[in-house]
Amino acid sequence: MSADTHSSTSPDTTPYVLVLYYSRHGATQTLAEQIVAGIESIPGIQARLRRVPEVSTTCEQTTPEIPDSGAMYATLDDLRQCAGLALGSPTRFGNMAAPLKYFLDSTSELWMNGSLIDKPATAFSASSSLHGGQETTLMTMLVPLLHHGMVYAGVPYSATELLETTQGGTPYGTTHVSGKRGDNDVNDHERRLAVAQGKRIARLALAMQPLRENR
Ligand SMILES: Cc1cc2nc3c(=O)[nH]c(=O)nc-3n(C[C@H](O)[C@H](O)[C@H](O)COP(=O)(O)O)c2cc1C
Repeated sequence: MSADTHSSTSPDTTPYVLVLYYSRHGATQTLAEQIVAGIESIPGIQARLRRVPEVSTTCEQTTPEIPDSGAMYATLDDLRQCAGLALGSPTRFGNMAAPLKYFLDSTSELWMNGSLIDKPATAFSASSSLHGGQETTLMTMLVPLLHHGMVYAGVPYSATELLETTQGGTPYGTTHVSGKRGDNDVNDHERRLAVAQGKRIARLALAMQPLRENR
């Protein structure tokens, strides 16, 4: 995976899709990595993989500013400067996880400045059970994105895995069913849908660039 995972600023001016996720046990992260692969297969655009840190019931910092391993924590600038966004969260009671919501609640400056208007966005999720609320989770994730003026894109049925999957995969965004113990691998259908979703958001990010420049 060649996504820019460690530097906070891109080495060049190539546009990028921010793949921003929270993952406690790794299932959502695995989907994020497949979406990165889809993005990186489109010439002229890059993926920037970022995650959000844990939150605490009190206001102390619970993790070091720079994680020991894995993707860097996202900054507001990562979001401000992106050409498109893929947002990932585990399903928690049919809703996005608190750490991701906490990060989104810190983005009012971007909302006030209209920084994300006319940028494409998509969402993805993992849950332990098949009917455990993946689709409602994706719905909770797209609402703040619409407030930001982003243009939401799911996965169209030209990705025929949507008709074949018996595990994850929805037209609202890719999903993965991680199983009771969280140890299901991302299967072929889920992986191919995630790659297709990455390709689509990358193409849309490139296509919508002139629209934003002429605003
Ligand atoms: C507080 C909490 C609530 C959860 N709610 C649901 C749920 O509503 N439906 C479901 O199928 N799984 C639920 N799960 C399971 C997670 O969605 C599942 O383990 C997921 O794969 C975790 O993703 P991660 O590995 O990226 O952290 C919940 C887990 C936790 C900790």
